Amino acid sequence: MATSKQLRLLTDNAIALDVRQGLTASPKYLPSKLFYDEAGSQLFEQITELPEYYLSRTERSILEQYAGEILANAGPSLTLVELGAGTAAKTCILIEELLLRQSRVLFYPIDVSPSALEQAVRQLGRQFPCLRVNPIVGDYTGGVPALSRITGRKLVLYIGSSIGNFEPPQAIRLLRRIRQTLRSGDALLLGADFAKSPKILVPAYDDAQGVTAAFNKNILARLNRELEADFDVDAFRHIALWNRRGSRMEIYLESMTAQTAFLPALDLDVAFERGERMHTENSYKYTDAMIESILRESGFTLEQTWCDRKRWFGLHLARV
Ligand code: AVI
Repeated sequence: MATSKQLRLLTDNAIALDVRQGLTASPKYLPSKLFYDEAGSQLFEQITELPEYYLSRTERSILEQYAGEILANAGPSLTLVELGAGTAAKTCILIEELLLRQSRVLFYPIDVSPSALEQAVRQLGRQFPCLRVNPIVGDYTGGVPALSRITGRKLVLYIGSSIGNFEPPQAIRLLRRIRQTLRSGDALLLGADFAKSPKILVPAYDDAQGVTAAFNKNILARLNRELEADFDVDAFRHIALWNRRGSRMEIYLESMTAQTAFLPALDLDVAFERGERMHTENSYKYTDAMIESILRESGFTLEQTWCDRKRWFGLHLARV
């Protein structure tokens, strides 16, 4: 029977069920959403600045070059909505351009993190006094339905390659749910990373400074912090592999010795063999055909794609 301490840890802990499921599966895995506690979110911010991690700066450069064209194609009198907005760091490029076209701009950033949204509201308020920001705290289950209550012609931003962390069927399910909240004339701007040489991809997910390794290992440190587990974080190494057939980067933690971790909150011993790999993330890299297909299957029509000169990253405008 569980002790009262175990019960408290379990009921207090939304992550416990996911962790139990992943660590008792064969092969073992941990869901990538567990990366993003406070420490993990800070490490991810650092990743976006790394020389090898081209995604963020390439997407930013596309926005800088094509913001005007994107907005012209999206249509007049737009209300901007951003899913998984975080601090909305790149969105200011579109907002600035939109304020040249419309005297009144409404922006609804949607995110699970209230502190990221507070930062977005503060920063955008300072930068654009005429902008009205209505933050919505919610994830894909809570935040997406809120979309249908927003009136006016919407441009929904789902940028940052976040779609890449979903398995394609899940990605289609999410896009379908977004599609259901939109009306004729509304549009979606989807940011996705293109498939490319592993010579570029592998270092982007296994950088020389080891920041991505620390980001990956933070998942174990988080279990130690939140579930009082005793993972020896240094006894695992970060692995990043390109799976060409699956068109995805695969991220693992590999146990460097035979070892056992104990998770008192789950009353669970987890044994690892030497060299055993635990999957922590997939990051899908899309081809044009894959983008077309997930959009079509979720009820969107791909209207236009903007990309950088090397075609490393794409912003896709889709219409309902
Ligand atoms: C958040 N997401 C788009 C990142 C990616 O590139 O898949 C997460 C990440 N994982 C390792 N590095 C970055």
